[in-house]
Parts: sequence; structure tokens; C-alpha cells
Amino acid sequence: MNLWRKKSLDQLIEFGQTKSDLKKTLGAFDLTLLGIGAIIGTGIFVLTGIAAAEHAGPALVLSFVLAGLACGFAALAYAEFAALCPVSGSAYTYSYATLGEFMAWLIGWALILEYGLASSAVSIGWSAYFVKLVEGLGFHLPATLVNPPAGGGIVNLPAVIIVLIVTALLSIGIRESARVNNFMVFVKMTVVLLFIGVGIWYVKPANWIPFMPYGVSGIWSGAAIVFFAYIGFDAVSTAAEEVKNPQRDLPIGIISSLAICTILYIVVSAILTGIVPYSQFRGVSAPVALAMQVAGQNWVAGFVSVGAIAGITTVLLVMIYGQTRVFFAMSRDGLLPSLFSKVHPRFATPFISTWMTGLIIAFVAGFVPIGIVAEMVNLGTLSAFVFVSIGVILLRYQRPELKRPFRCPGVPFTPLFAVLFCAFLMGSLPWITWKLFLIWMGVGVVVYFLYGFSHSKIAAPVERTNTSEE
Ligand code: ALA
Repeated sequence: MNLWRKKSLDQLIEFGQTKSDLKKTLGAFDLTLLGIGAIIGTGIFVLTGIAAAEHAGPALVLSFVLAGLACGFAALAYAEFAALCPVSGSAYTYSYATLGEFMAWLIGWALILEYGLASSAVSIGWSAYFVKLVEGLGFHLPATLVNPPAGGGIVNLPAVIIVLIVTALLSIGIRESARVNNFMVFVKMTVVLLFIGVGIWYVKPANWIPFMPYGVSGIWSGAAIVFFAYIGFDAVSTAAEEVKNPQRDLPIGIISSLAICTILYIVVSAILTGIVPYSQFRGVSAPVALAMQVAGQNWVAGFVSVGAIAGITTVLLVMIYGQTRVFFAMSRDGLLPSLFSKVHPRFATPFISTWMTGLIIAFVAGFVPIGIVAEMVNLGTLSAFVFVSIGVILLRYQRPELKRPFRCPGVPFTPLFAVLFCAFLMGSLPWITWKLFLIWMGVGVVVYFLYGFSHSKIAAPVERTNTSEE
């Protein structure tokens, strides 16, 4: 039983450089905007309320610093891999070349939580702002149709509908072009800067006291939640095969999008808790708009809702797209049925796979509350970050001679810090989330042994000589 068989790194590098059919059009600037497009969304516009009210209090700003540090260290590790091996599949592919097939499968399985489940969480956030906007216009939507059963409703219908619309777009091949994305990012950034520019005048420092009502552990558990707000910088690496000069541009795109968002998040969270006493965020699903209402700036609250809706839609698009690409890569390697890499003859998209993915995402979005979903997403993503960081260290020892266009500074310490910070954040998530996560991973192991292990392409004797190192 060879669970540790690996893909050949040299062939992956060559594939990325010469064989990929995708058009190489993106530069460092586009990638930075792509990153911001995927990062700023539900995390900052929705989850900050829960994190402040129930976990960190005004020390939410420190939660953002901690989560930002964990992501910063991990981003350096991602940048080294992405520049070295610019092919699709991101963490899954990097692990296949360094840690072997079984670990790669587990990471691919965890990535379903990052992209698939994140899409559900993001659409729930979209729904919260949509309801707020519609109510602002004087229409009232019945509570039973905008809440999941655990929230006193029947189904979160707006969340289901937006997922289905985005799925339909993706399935017929309307890919977000760099221009559309750039425009959406412009809208998002304008709204965030407007919030900062207006909000700063309404901050009452008294609201920051007591600063740490839930103590240090509250800051860590807050960080484990707002970590969600940072997810997306790694999605830049999934565009690897479409970048003009990946060795240079991918590290720039990954690191600068994360850096810009980190600064914005820290400022926004300080202003939020400075305007609204943290306890008033309890049960609030549109905290940024609420802060503007408390400040008496209803016109800005309206803009915030429009910006949030536009911005969260891009996140949703990139996340569902990312999920289908990870399925695509896993299926191309034989670990999932070929259905997932089957391309529609007319639309040239993985049509069936996109719809299957979209329907499941819509189901979860309609019936599960956002808190539980977001925590599961974080656990899945954090585990991927841990493995990518370990992979960077291992590869430095396994293949020291490889020419690395971007070298993560301070190896092994930087990736070790990433592992440490991520482990701390993982440890700060509640036991119930862990139980669900372990059940999910257990199902993954069963699926691997029932299917992937025997169908793996690199296990096939004919292809072993072509694609495997072993
Ligand atoms: N970072 C993304 C968001 O907050 C997933 O919506």
C-alpha cells in the first residue's frame, strides 16, 4: 500500500511553464485586485459583529492582528510554492508533490470546507445585507423565509437564490473578467474607505473600555472567527496558469493583497467598536451598516449595504469557481470520478460538476446558521495552511537544489510560526466544530480507500513512468 506516492515536481513545473492551455494575461496588479476581490466580504461585513459581541469585545482589533499574522506567515509559504510550481490546484497540488497522495487527498478534502462551505457562509452574509437593503427601501420580507430553521425560520431563501444565480453564471462560462473584478473591487474599497472616512469622527473612546471583557482567550477565539475575513489570498495561487510572469507576480499578488486587507481590517474593527458598544452587536448580522446607523449616517449605511452586496458577490464567484477547480484537479489525477473534470462541449466549463457543487452549497446556505458554517471553514483552511507551511520546510531539505524564484524568508522559522499560529487558532475553536471536522475528515478517509486509492492515475503502471517519481 503506497499512500505516500508523489507527483513529480519537475513535471509539474514544466507543465505550468509550457503545457498549460490557459491564456496568460494577468499581471501583478490584476492579481492583487483578484486577491482583494476574494478576501473582503462576509468576514468583515458580517462576522465582526459576532466576534466582538461574543468573543473579543473591543479587543477585536487584536484578534485581527493575530489572525493577520497567522495568514502573513502562511502567505509567505504559499508564495514560495506558487512561484516554484505555478499550476492549478493550489495547496492540494503542492502537497501531492511533497507530502504524497494520501496527505494531498486529505488537504483536497479539507479544501472543500474552505471553498465549498465558505461559499455557503458567504451567501448567508450576502443575504443579511440584502434583507437590510430591501427593508431600507420599505419592503418587509417574512422572517421565516430569510432565516434557517435554527434561527427561527424555514429557509434562508435569498442565500439559496444568489448561490443558484452565481452557479448558473459559472456553468455557462461567464467568467469574471479581470475588468469586472477590478470594478467590483473598486466599489468595495470605496465603501470601506467611506466607512473609515465618516466613521472615524463618531468614535467614542469610552466604548473601548473595558478593552478585553473576555480576556486573552476571548481574543484568540475572536481571531479564530475573524480568520475567515482573510481567506481568499490563497485563491490568487489558483490563477497560476493564467499569469504572465508567475514567478514574480504571484508572490506580489498574494502578499500585497493580504497586506492591504490587513491594514483595512485593523482600522475598520477599531472604528466599529469605537462607535457601537460591543455588547450591542449581539445577534447583529450587518454590523458595519449598524455602526453607520448608530452614527446617524443612514445614507452611508445604504452605501455600505450596496457595497457589501456587490463585494460579497465577487467572493462567492471566486469561491465556487475555486471549488470546481480543486475538484477538477483531483479528478484529473483520478482521485475523484471523471465526471468532475468533464467539460461541457458547448460552454467549455465543468458543467455537471458546477451544478452539483452549487446545489449542495445552496442547500447548506438555506438551512444552516452562519456561525457553525464559518467555524468549519476556518478549521479546513487552517489545516491546509499548516500543511503548505510544513511542505515548504520539507521541500527545502528534500530538494535544496531547486531554483526558487521566491524564497520564503527565515525558513524554517517563518513556516514554523505559521504552523504555531494556525495551531493556536485551531485550538481556539469550539469542540463541537472539531467533532464535525473530524467526522468530515473521517468520511474523506473512507472515500479515499473506497475510490481514490485504486483509481489514482499515478498508481496505474502505464502512467507511472510518465508522471510519478516512484
Ligand atoms: N474572506 C472572505 C470573506 O470574508 C471569504 O467573505
